[in-house]
This record gives sequence, C-alpha cells and structure tokens, in this order.
Amino acid sequence: MRLFHFLLFFFSFPAFGTDRSAALCEQLFCFPVCLHWYPGSCSQRLPEQCPALLKRAIQCAQSYVIRLWHVRVSAFAQLKISFLFQKKAWHTIKTMVNLPVISPFKKRYSWVQLAGHTGSFKAADSGKILKRFSENEKECFERLMKDPLRSCVPCFHGVVERDGESYIQLDDLLTDFEGPSVMDCKMGIRTYLEEELTKAREKPKLRKDMYKKMIEVDPLAPTAEENAQHAVTKPRYMQWRETISSSANLGFRIEGIKKADGTCNTNFKTTKTQEQVLQVFVEFIEGNTTILKKYLKRLQEINVILESSDFFKRHEVVGSSLLFVHDGSGNANVWLIDFGKTTLLPDGQTLDHRIPWQEGNREDGYLLGLDNLIGILESITER
Ligand SMILES: Nc1ncnc2c1ncn2[C@@H]1O[C@H](COP(=O)(O)OP(=O)(O)OP(=O)(O)O)[C@@H](O)[C@H]1O
Ligand SMILES: [Mg+2]
Repeated sequence: MRLFHFLLFFFSFPAFGTDRSAALCEQLFCFPVCLHWYPGSCSQRLPEQCPALLKRAIQCAQSYVIRLWHVRVSAFAQLKISFLFQKKAWHTIKTMVNLPVISPFKKRYSWVQLAGHTGSFKAADSGKILKRFSENEKECFERLMKDPLRSCVPCFHGVVERDGESYIQLDDLLTDFEGPSVMDCKMGIRTYLEEELTKAREKPKLRKDMYKKMIEVDPLAPTAEENAQHAVTKPRYMQWRETISSSANLGFRIEGIKKADGTCNTNFKTTKTQEQVLQVFVEFIEGNTTILKKYLKRLQEINVILESSDFFKRHEVVGSSLLFVHDGSGNANVWLIDFGKTTLLPDGQTLDHRIPWQEGNREDGYLLGLDNLIGILESITER
C-alpha cells in the first residue's frame, strides 16, 4: 500500500498546488525556507549534474513528507487567514481540525473532532471511528443498541484493541456528508455529576489550569480565596461555565462549530442569551431553509423518541451532546453523542429531565434544553 501511495504521489504530485501552501506557511508561520522542499524549489537546489531519475525520486520522497506536513499546516493557515480577515464571531479560532488519515482514497477532512480531549479518538476502518474506552460509555452503548434511541446515536461496533489500548468502535457520523459543517451542542443544565460534587467536597482537588481558564474569560470571577490559591475545584469551574454560557438558562450550550470552509470556532463560552444562540445558528446554516427544516424535523423526532425511551428515563444524561451535521447538498441530520458521563439510576428511579435540578434529585434538564433548541429553530423559520 505504501509503494502504491508513493507511486501515486510520484506521478500526480504537481497537481496538488503545494507551492501555494508552502508560500503560505512561509508567510504565516515563518516556516524555515531551508525546509521547503516542495518540487519547484527543490529542483532549483539540486546540483545540475544530478541524474534526472534520481532528482525526481528525491523530489517525490520529499514531496510525500512535506505534503503530510502541508495538509496539516494549510488547515491552520486557512484558519489564521479567517482569523485575520473575518469580523464576526470567528475571532478566536482554535483549530480542532483533525486529519487522522491522510490518504488519496479518502475525503480530505474525513473526520473532525470539535470538542473533547485530544488523543481520545483514533482513525478506524472506513466509516468508523475509535473512541478511548470507558466502561461506562461502553455499557451505555450496549443498552442504547436495544433501545428506540438506537436510531439517534452512532451505531456501536464493540470494543477493539489498538497499540495496547482499548477503544469503542462507533460509526463515523460524517461519512455520508460532502464537506460537512458540524456543530456540537452540549445538552442539559448541568455538566457535572452529582457524585463529582460530593467528591469535590470531601476531597477538594485544586485545579490551577481551570483557574487560569476562568480569569482569561473573567478576571473578577474567582473569589478572594481562589485568587489566593490560584486554583479552583472542577465542579466550581463547571458551575461557573454553566452560568456564563447558555447551559444554566437554556439547558444547552454550543461547544464548537466547524464550517465547510474549514473554519473552526470553539469560543462560545459566553454565548448565553436566546438571541445570541439564534444568531450562531443563523450563521451556521447560512440561511439555508431546507437544512433548517430538516434539523427542526429531526429534533422533533428525537424529542418523541426520547419521551418513549426506557434508556432515557433511567439515566442521568450529563455531558452528552447533540451533533448537528449538514453539507452543501442539503443533507442534514442530528445525533446524540458522548455518553461518558451518562449514569444508570438505581432500580425503580426515573427522571423527568425537565424539572429543575436540586442536589439529590439528579435531574439534568435535558428536555428543557431540547425544548429551547426547538423553540429557537422554530423562531428562525418564522423570521
Ligand atoms: N460518532 C462520531 N462521528 C463523528 N464525529 C464524532 C463522533 N463522536 C464524536 N465525534 C466528534 O468528536 C467530538 C468529541 O466527541 P465526544 O464528546 O464524544 O468526546 P469526549 O472526549 O467525550 O468529549 P467531552 O470533552 O465532551 O467529554 C464531537 O464534538 C464530534 O465533533
Ligand atoms: Mg462531548
């Protein structure tokens, strides 16, 4: 397969326009010129007497390596350009574009991770992704596969081992989209488990990283004690995040968006009001009413399925997201993802998912968030 890749690049490389991306890298990242071995410049640097075939082989070997680099850097470059020239919401751009497999046989940007920890995902066979194993999430997916909610989540294909680590294998939800735009909405009024709160009280673990993130957004947010410690506890940070975003008031928040043009935005920490969220949706769908209607229809369908789901009744659904995906052809869909923190309730206990949370009742406000999401999309259709 490697030989095949090599031959393919050998014959087709000039068509990829890497000169442009190399120049871009140079301008934007001060990438050392001496490392710029893209074909044009390379041929000028090789000695005249170098045999043509050898020259070509050296060029192509370099091209292959540099192409891997350029594909990644070009994504960064595009983002940096949009950072420089776009005025609106895309001002703080943090790229999360992942290119797990760079192969001429796969679509570029075949998979995108908008949120979550780097290193949690791995490329899998075509149409599938691997997510770092968690016993809790695996058990959730096993139960989900036997529940009406099965049609609203990525299909679960069991557990696999890679390089000595375990992963859960899931359908890649982006497979059927051509140049997808993706939005991750974290559902619920609460993004931490009640047991995390109890643990933090019993054994407060101070987090300097979270304190730093907090003062970056609002230097006045920490208490005098937190300022003295230069640290906050995880639930304190999460509770604060809920109040500055729309989680606390609307029951969901936007975690990140990747648009078809490659721009990524994960800077929605303070997107709080209904009007602000609505504006983000309007920009996300770029005025496409077909996509809007499909999203709305699917959310209403998910709502009906959730109300009939035994899984949903019997789980505290915390930190789970709705993943919105559409493309230029008008293809659009929504799925529930991320069950890492979704917890089975004790036998006989069920949740309403709408009534307000009070410590001990384990309510997550999921349906409150979904009602608000549907309401916001409806109000866009009425405009
Ligand atoms: N099945 C899937 N198909 C396509 N993309 C996915 C899929 N699952 C997850 N993703 C992408 O990966 C991102 C992170 O996924 P997920 O929330 O499951 O990870 P996590 O590590 O549990 O994150 P978190 O920080 O929210 O706990 C999502 O926002 C989405 O962009
Ligand atoms: Mg998530």
